[in-house]
Amino acid sequence: DQVEKGQFEHFMLKEIHEQPLTLRNTMLGRINDRDEVSFPELAHAAGAFKDVDKIFIVACGTAYHAGLVGSTIIEKLTRIPVQSDIASEFRYRDPIITDRTLVIVVSQSGETADTLAALHESRRNGAKILAITNVPTSSIARDADYVIATKAGPEIAVASTKAYTAQLLAFYLFSIYLAQERQTLGKELHSELVKGLKTLPVQVEKVLENADEVKLFAESIKEAKSLFFIGRGLDYPVALEGSLKLKEISYIHSEAYAAGEMKHGTLALIEKGTPVIALATHMDLYEKTVSNIKEVKARGAHVMGITVEGNVELLNAVDEICFIPPSLQLLAPILAVVPLQLISYYASLALGNDIDKPRNLAKSVTVE
Ligand code: G6P
Repeated sequence: DQVEKGQFEHFMLKEIHEQPLTLRNTMLGRINDRDEVSFPELAHAAGAFKDVDKIFIVACGTAYHAGLVGSTIIEKLTRIPVQSDIASEFRYRDPIITDRTLVIVVSQSGETADTLAALHESRRNGAKILAITNVPTSSIARDADYVIATKAGPEIAVASTKAYTAQLLAFYLFSIYLAQERQTLGKELHSELVKGLKTLPVQVEKVLENADEVKLFAESIKEAKSLFFIGRGLDYPVALEGSLKLKEISYIHSEAYAAGEMKHGTLALIEKGTPVIALATHMDLYEKTVSNIKEVKARGAHVMGITVEGNVELLNAVDEICFIPPSLQLLAPILAVVPLQLISYYASLALGNDIDKPRNLAKSVTVE
């Protein structure tokens, strides 16, 4: 075990630090010299997605959170309506599926029973199935029509980190691929996106190097009874993922909220000292998020802000801050989730928990 963990105390920390490499590997061979995205494994799929008029993204846990980001990206770049669903709910709600529906199932292990069952149900109803999975030999890969492999390598820690960012990257690449096919993406945004994707591994390295503040904050929340994660736009699904990560391994209760929705209930739970992690990476929603931060601050919250380098004025609105490198706003989730992974890791470390094998949870759940 220790040999495999190398210099790291836990697999989770090792896997967090592998992300620059796993992002590079997931991009490898999928972007050509003209900045076009192609998937060698989709060679047999040429034109297969031309008629698609509706997409569902179906998954569980962390993979579901990747799907939430994925749905926004696909809609934005292709204008095809996309809906994300939790696999254990999807097939019981009689979704409208036709032969022009594409169902994208996302699964690190490729063996999750709920996701596999949703795949089978969608196939019975005539949908085309694309699997995004880290295990190309898995049941989900075998039963799908098309497979995009995330190249995260084996993930040992129960709490998923590198598989999640690889899933996000797979969604960015697939969205560009679909947009190329349907000619819905302007040249300028296309090249900015590809350039931005290629820069991500180095930017993640930077986030990992500047983790000191996040580490101190994580240690400070170990006694907290409850925490809130807030964000707008793509920061909201990232908040959901940060909150899940924290619950999984620290056992501290937390909730993620769309920042604008706080005032409709959750604000009642903010007391003096309640830790709030506020994501503010969306520049077009920045002012609105800052005013939501002020609302929780005014009720005594202790706020850790996560924003883009340069937004120094946020320092006046929060108690602690973590800057992520500037990127296209659409790509920020890959950078913003890294400090959240570290917060959950270091909070759990301070609590002395079994980080790689949290209580009551399994890496892959093969029962429904
Ligand atoms: C389990 C794991 C989670 C994971 C979920 C879905 O609950 O503990 O970390 O996100 O299953 O797993 P999958 O392999 O389908 O991505």
